[in-house]
Amino acid sequence: MNKEIVVSGIRSTGYLHLGNYFGAIQNYVKMQEEHNCYFFVADYHALTTHPDPKELKQNVYRVVAENIASGLDPEKVALYAQSDIPEIPELYLMLNMLAYKGELEKVPTFKDKVRLQPENVNAGLLTYPVLMAADILIHRAVKVPVGKDQEQHLEMARNFAARFNARYSIDFFPEPQVYRSNQDTVKILSLDGNGKMSKSENVNATIYLNDDDDTIRKKIMKAKTDQGPSEPNAEMPDFIKNMFLLLQLTATPDITAQYTNAYNNCNIRYGDMKKQLAEDMVTFVRPIRERAAELQKDENAIRKILKEGAEKARPSSIATIAGARKLIGINYY
Ligand code: AMP
Ligand code: TRP
Repeated sequence: MNKEIVVSGIRSTGYLHLGNYFGAIQNYVKMQEEHNCYFFVADYHALTTHPDPKELKQNVYRVVAENIASGLDPEKVALYAQSDIPEIPELYLMLNMLAYKGELEKVPTFKDKVRLQPENVNAGLLTYPVLMAADILIHRAVKVPVGKDQEQHLEMARNFAARFNARYSIDFFPEPQVYRSNQDTVKILSLDGNGKMSKSENVNATIYLNDDDDTIRKKIMKAKTDQGPSEPNAEMPDFIKNMFLLLQLTATPDITAQYTNAYNNCNIRYGDMKKQLAEDMVTFVRPIRERAAELQKDENAIRKILKEGAEKARPSSIATIAGARKLIGINYY
């Protein structure tokens, strides 16, 4: 039986964090067994913020190491750098002709960037969703494991696919769907209650896979809490819900049940809960951090993984571009 095609990418813009792990990588690891997986480091996407060249390279190597340390097996998937697949920018160019300025300007992540970096609103930022669509459509993928923050981008990828299909009267591109493991796609909030965990923002309230034990403990002990509920079974504020989510993701079910009951009975002690969460988090992150550090010592091995990953990802990219060129009418010889 043909395995379903899966694509996902992570930008090489900084250290990976719990949001990346639970929103994306954990699903990659689950999917690698039964799908035809293409996972890549989105280094072209990282160029929108003009990174320092040396830093970009280290970031790419680290993203690869941290993915493998989290359980991704480069023998089972194609793990590559976006910039090693020249067919991606070619498809991006083709799709740009089907993407409209008005719809791109309305994308919430674009509007956020305009607000955050008004001095650098480049065309790469505007067409970010088109490049992302090219990443996915180049393999004609059907499933895309991403966190909740990427759902809108995926909807645009479906629109571009449908537009291409309609223009050339053929079902050439399938419409890719967000992959959900069992529950909803996850969103991990920042521990200070301001937005989500992120590679470059909220750094003191984001837990990175590279954080040492004490840093993890300190960040969790400083997490935002409140006075506690004043009536039984009260609705949780988002930042408390987030702490419970982290507990559920890293602690045993009985511990989570114990604190949930305490919350529902109005006798929760957040200090105790944080201490518990800190220890479970330390136990969770430590092996990933140590393994990633080990892997990063051998840059030759990482380069080999990227090279072999690109070799695995090229054939389907070449086939897609050949098909797209023909449909468009670029077949002169
Ligand atoms: P990025 O770090 O923006 O390149 O994101 C890489 C992957 O991690 C994407 O699938 C995102 O949806 C996911 N992701 C990033 N931040 C979070 C977060 N705070 N919660 C859940 N998923 C996230
Ligand atoms: N835009 C994604 C993010 O910021 C990263 C990404 C780029 C991606 N291309 C992709 C994710 C293709 C899934 C599929 O998180």
